[in-house]
Amino acid sequence: MLTIRGKFRICGCLLLMCFSGVTGAETGKMSDPETVALGKKLYEEYCRVCHQKDGVGEPSIPWSIRKPGYITAMPLNETSHAWHHSDEQLVQAILDGLRRTNRMPAWRNVISEKEASDIVAYIKSLWSPKILACQGPKHMSCM
Ligand code: HEC
Repeated sequence: MLTIRGKFRICGCLLLMCFSGVTGAETGKMSDPETVALGKKLYEEYCRVCHQKDGVGEPSIPWSIRKPGYITAMPLNETSHAWHHSDEQLVQAILDGLRRTNRMPAWRNVISEKEASDIVAYIKSLWSPKILACQGPKHMSCM
């Protein structure tokens, strides 16, 4: 017979397993190659049109000819600040969109949370090991 505490412990473990299944790899760690390949396919389909091949970002448009409020899609490779965010923050930005511009919409009704997490795995594969190790809350100490 399991005690109530024992049951809670099992519940907690299951929850944790579900959670890690959704978020995939950990902040600061590389994901497995299968996940990266899945993410790359999704990236090519949905994100490349703006963030460009290999996440290099859109070429910047001079202010003089840019429409007011027009924001270009920044690189997602290590040359910008995608790596300042944790996996969870990146997944959230993708699913909920960014308020500064409707050019980066919420993808929640297009892709699942698991797919957003796979795309994050791909984005992280574009970073060098040093940048990956500095991802998220640690980024300040690496600058
Ligand atoms: C129509 C163009 C467009 C598409 C398609 C698009 N984005 Fe974006 N994205 C943007 C723009 C513009 C920004 C900058 C928003 C800002 O600065 O507030 C952005 C910002 C982001 C950021 C924040 C990066 C940071 O350093 O803070 C992430 C992450 C991101 N996009 C991921 C994605 C992913 C993943 C996809 C595909 C599912 C995608 N985007 C598709 C235009 C796009």
